[in-house]
Amino acid sequence: MSGLEGDPIIRTVDLTVSYGKKTVLDHVTFSAPAFSITAVLGPSGCGKTTLLSCLNALIREQSGAQVSGDVLLSGKSTAGIAVEDLRRRIGMVTQTPTPFPFSIYKNIAYAPKYYRSVRKADLDEFVRQKLQMVGLYEEVSDRLNQSALSLSGGQQQRLCIARALTVDPEVLLLDEPCSALDVKATSKVESTLLELKRDYSIIIVTHNIAQARRIADYAVFLNDGRLVEAASAREFFENPREEATRSFLMGAFG
Ligand SMILES: Nc1ncnc2c1ncn2[C@@H]1O[C@H](COP(=O)(O)OP(=O)(O)OP(=O)(O)O)[C@@H](O)[C@H]1O
Ligand SMILES: [Mg+2]
Repeated sequence: MSGLEGDPIIRTVDLTVSYGKKTVLDHVTFSAPAFSITAVLGPSGCGKTTLLSCLNALIREQSGAQVSGDVLLSGKSTAGIAVEDLRRRIGMVTQTPTPFPFSIYKNIAYAPKYYRSVRKADLDEFVRQKLQMVGLYEEVSDRLNQSALSLSGGQQQRLCIARALTVDPEVLLLDEPCSALDVKATSKVESTLLELKRDYSIIIVTHNIAQARRIADYAVFLNDGRLVEAASAREFFENPREEATRSFLMGAFG
C-alpha cells in the first residue's frame, strides 16, 4: 500500500535490490504522483540513492546488484523501455553539482545540439528559456560564454537542473541536491523546484527534514531498505502513523 493519492507517474512494485546476501531494498512498493514533489527520507544507508538508481535504471550498471520487482513509468514497466529513452524521460541531478567543464551556454546547448532537437537559429532562445526556468538567466546573462565552473555552487546546481531539463524529461530525480549549498542557495533551488513541479514530476532525496516540510507534497520514509510510511506531506509530518516515522522526525535516527 502506497498511501498516496493522485495519478502516479512512477510506481515501484515489490522492488528488491540485493548485493550478495545483503538486501538493500526489500519489496519496496510506492507511487509518486505526477506534477508533485515527492520527498524520499530516511537514515544514511537506508537505500534512498539505490531507490533513485532503480527508477532510471542506473542500477543495471552496478556490478553485483540483483534486482527484482518492477518500476512503472506512467503505468508501463520500464523493463521494456530502452535505457537511452528512459534516461531522457527521467532526468537526474546529483548531490554534488557536476556542470560540464564548458561554458554556461554550452552546458545547456549540448543536448539539443547532440539530438538536433532545436534549430540552430532557436538555440539562443532555448538557452535563455532553460536558464530562466531555474531563475539563473538574470544572474548569468552577461557571461554565458564563461566557464560553468566559475559559477557558485548554488548556481552550478541550478545550471545542472536546467541542463537536466534540456532533454524535456517527464520526471526529475534529485539526490540531496542542496547538501553542498548554503541557506540562500538552498532556498533558490527550493523555489526553482516549486516552480518546476507545474511541468515536471519531481522526486527528491533529502536529509533535510525541514526542506521536505517546505517543498514536498508527498513523503516516503525508508528505513533499512523497507518502506515504512508513504503519505501526503501534511499527514506524514503532522500525524505520522508509524512509530519509526515519528522517531525519525524527532531526530532519533541518523
Ligand atoms: N555497490 C554496492 N555494493 C554493495 N553494497 C552497496 C552498494 N551500493 C550501495 N550499497 C549498500 O546499500 C545500502 C544502501 O545504500 P544507499 O547509497 O542507497 O543509501 P542512502 O540511503 O542513499 O544513504 P546516504 O543517505 O548515506 O546517501 C548501504 O548499506 C550501502 O552500503
Ligand atoms: Mg544516498
